[in-house]
Amino acid sequence: MIKKGIILAGGLGQRMSPITKAVNKQLLPLYDKPLIFYPLSILMLANIKNILIIVNKGQLNTFRKILPEKNNLGIKIQYAEQKKPRGLPDAFIIGKKFIEKDNVALVLGDNFFYGQSLTKNLKKNLIFSKGARIFLHPVKNPQRYGVAYLNKKKKILKLLEKPNKPKSNLAVTGIYFFDNKVVEFSKKLKASKRGELEIIDLLNIYKKKNNLKAEFIGRGGAWLDTGNVKDYYDASNFISTIENRQGLKIACLEEIAFNNGWISKNEIKSSINFYGNCDYSKYLKTLIN
Ligand code: DAU
Repeated sequence: MIKKGIILAGGLGQRMSPITKAVNKQLLPLYDKPLIFYPLSILMLANIKNILIIVNKGQLNTFRKILPEKNNLGIKIQYAEQKKPRGLPDAFIIGKKFIEKDNVALVLGDNFFYGQSLTKNLKKNLIFSKGARIFLHPVKNPQRYGVAYLNKKKKILKLLEKPNKPKSNLAVTGIYFFDNKVVEFSKKLKASKRGELEIIDLLNIYKKKNNLKAEFIGRGGAWLDTGNVKDYYDASNFISTIENRQGLKIACLEEIAFNNGWISKNEIKSSINFYGNCDYSKYLKTLIN
């Protein structure tokens, strides 16, 4: 059972420059909340309460400011810094002490997931002792992602990072579950041509050992990219459309914590004070009245 999760929230955000020149991408608003709320909500929905957020060197205080202080979310958040963007598997080298002897989930700080059976699907896959799990989703532009080739029995045949001419439309999304070997395997990786430790190389180690399983977000689920400016605004509009139609918020952290029984009305009140007079606080008020 996975009880620990890492959010990798560093990176240069180069594809969104100049917007990201001075501000980390994960702190920018995705509709009505900072982007970091969304991957954090995914871990919370999966019942993961012990969380490490990895940020760029020097940006720790800004992240601390944006998330509620004390224990308003009923979870334990720790922070670590990444000196420079050395690649996704660096998360497990930086997070070694946090991981200890446990299994761990990784969510990329800029990934957005939404869908009815998502939580159920994630929870189901948290229960494993050995190997790794990836979550696939079909996309129109697989050349921009890690791509998986499967056989008819859904066994992974091949994984490639951003292939020029992909023959599969199944992208590897930014949520991964790993056993404890991930630290040891990450340390063994060598930097790729683009100078990074590659998540696909790490996954290939598991694949070679026949220990990598592919799951699907499912057709009813959405996995949206926030890679470039257009994708960012598209994702923002998607959230706006759903929230304004339903009157329910996506990734309201206190709501998830409250529904999970981790916090009481008192913590919600304290969050309302923390955020101040805003729509998000108004929504929180509806939860306790
Ligand atoms: O979004 C899913 C894709 O994410 C996967 O399909 C690819 O296999 C995987 O390599 C990754 O692709 P990207 O090249 O798009 O990842 P990017 O460099 O944009 O980084 C993703 C997030 O992780 C982003 O929020 C920045 C953060 N990051 C990235 C690196 C390389 C870090 O915090 N530190 C890093 O060293």
